[in-house]
Amino acid sequence: MSEQNPSAGAKTIAESRVRLSQFMHPDQANGQGNVHGGEIMKLVDEAGALAAIRHARSLVVTVVMDSMTFMEPVFVGNVLTLDAQLTYVGKTSIEVRVEVTAENALAGTHTTTNTAYVVYVAIDSHGQPQSVPPLIASNDEERAEMQAAIERQAYRTQQREREKQRKSVSREVHHV
Ligand SMILES: CC(C)(COP(=O)(O)OP(=O)(O)OC[C@H]1O[C@@H](n2cnc3c(N)ncnc32)[C@H](O)[C@@H]1OP(=O)(O)O)[C@@H](O)C(=O)NCCC(=O)NCCS
Repeated sequence: MSEQNPSAGAKTIAESRVRLSQFMHPDQANGQGNVHGGEIMKLVDEAGALAAIRHARSLVVTVVMDSMTFMEPVFVGNVLTLDAQLTYVGKTSIEVRVEVTAENALAGTHTTTNTAYVVYVAIDSHGQPQSVPPLIASNDEERAEMQAAIERQAYRTQQREREKQRKSVSREVHHV
């Protein structure tokens, strides 16, 4: 009887890496004339989802977007670049790191505006979670990033369990 190789179909981080660049238009501005934070979050989610889809070769849904800190404003006229790469995969879940850089093409300056971690779940045609290929870390930096991601995902799972317990206790309280 032949045993299945658990790393069969595994893919490297480089295979699904994504870089998206987009010019920031006036219709993306907020009241102060800077680019609206929600526009940036949408682009982060799109770049992250594309990396996850390239790895899974299936549809994905977003389950978590970790807190996003905007360190610098993005201005209308900047070119926003989003670099997305996988940091971890579970059975059906995928964590992607997205780094956002704003370029002032006239001045020739680049500013890192924020970094986000987004978790996606690969789904089948019925919207049910489906397994994803294993992820290969090719160097020490990628291995360290993967270890940090495992710890983040363990923390999220713990939080999720706590939230489930809190909800079930609150349902019981409402029934008495
Ligand atoms: C994603 C979804 C299909 C998962 O269904 P589910 O019944 O929760 O499935 P599971 O409990 O088996 O979780 C599936 C995976 O997601 C992970 N996951 C789910 N919720 C999570 C959370 N809050 N944080 C981290 N990981 C989470 C689980 O750890 C599991 O990972 P693994 O298979 O790698 O171990 C379901 O929650 C859903 O449809 N959510 C809505 C998604 C959505 O509409 N997003 C916005 C638009 S894209």
